[in-house]
Amino acid sequence: MTRDDEAAARAADAFAERFGRAPEGVWAAPGRVNVIGEHTDYNGGFVLPVALPHTTRAAVARRDDGRLVLRSLQHPGDDADLALADLAPGSPAGWAGYAAGVVAELAGAAPGGLSVLIDGDVPAGAGLSSSAALECAVALALRDLLALGLSRAELVDVARRAENDFVGAPTGILDQSASLLCEAGAALFLDTRDRGTEQVPFDLAAAGLALLVLDSGTTHDHAEGGYRDRRRECEEAAARLGVPLLRDVPDVAALERLADGTAEGALLHRRARHVVTEDARVLRVVEVLRAGEDPRAVGPLLTEGHASLRDDFEVSVPEIDACVEAVLDAGAHGARMVGGGFGGSVVALVEADAVDAVTAAVAARSTRTSAVVPSAGARRLA
Ligand code: GLA
Repeated sequence: MTRDDEAAARAADAFAERFGRAPEGVWAAPGRVNVIGEHTDYNGGFVLPVALPHTTRAAVARRDDGRLVLRSLQHPGDDADLALADLAPGSPAGWAGYAAGVVAELAGAAPGGLSVLIDGDVPAGAGLSSSAALECAVALALRDLLALGLSRAELVDVARRAENDFVGAPTGILDQSASLLCEAGAALFLDTRDRGTEQVPFDLAAAGLALLVLDSGTTHDHAEGGYRDRRRECEEAAARLGVPLLRDVPDVAALERLADGTAEGALLHRRARHVVTEDARVLRVVEVLRAGEDPRAVGPLLTEGHASLRDDFEVSVPEIDACVEAVLDAGAHGARMVGGGFGGSVVALVEADAVDAVTAAVAARSTRTSAVVPSAGARRLA
């Protein structure tokens, strides 16, 4: 049995136990780790995520009583059971909101209601997009089950709207795009402005390398407020520069106008400098991978990206900085924080034969360390 078959059987069994019937299908969507391109997505810039082998699964069947019933094996005793007509932003709250938000977007096609059983192994609170995996598994399930005829790119927007409008988290499209559009063995090069995509071959094993994900085990309360502030600062910087998005700034020299001698001007200058230099780093990494150069050249770009997130964008925290330092001291070619910041995980590029030694060396700084291979995007399992 493959890992996907086992996951499908487990979700189908749990569904049958809860709902007294078999599901009509089981779908899975992965979490992600972004190789580079952080806080660029809502600025119209570039990102380069890979899908994780870890997925969230949704076993789903239609009902005929107009209700939505959601159960998660990871949140036992916290089911949601409500009339479709009662779905509203913030209700249900908690884990169920991410699934319910997607149902609210598409429920018109399933007036009889839905039974949904969720299972998964994407670590929650680690900055690896467990919430996007949940949204995307449900979105793909409803698309297939209800024959909605939506493309994967359209599902990205359905899932993002669920997160922005229903849950109320003001994220960009990085996480949902990674979960729905990534392919095994590749990194997804996405231009978030025109939505162009390219699957960039990313076979680190062939080069004797591994991608290590280290969970710092920390999340900070101000993560959402901090994210909101950064978005606003980027919008303000773009407005002062007279461009629609920071993506439209040609180079760092064009940012000088922001530094007007005030503290606020200096702050906006730093924020914008992160975005402009980060876009350039994504392009450079893509060049290295496309040209088949030694991927070790990617390492220093990751470390530069971290310094920029720490010093210019100010979204790192001491625990994450310490984790990055520890993994670099242990011999990594490069390392950086992943995701929105204020806690979460670190990604590092290391020699494959050094994975065990590096893992041991950072044991005090990481609650979970694993080598990940770029895996498949969302898919139907059964
Ligand atoms: C979070 C958001 C994404 C993106 C990253 C930062 O993961 O959900 O949209 O903005 O932060 O790159």
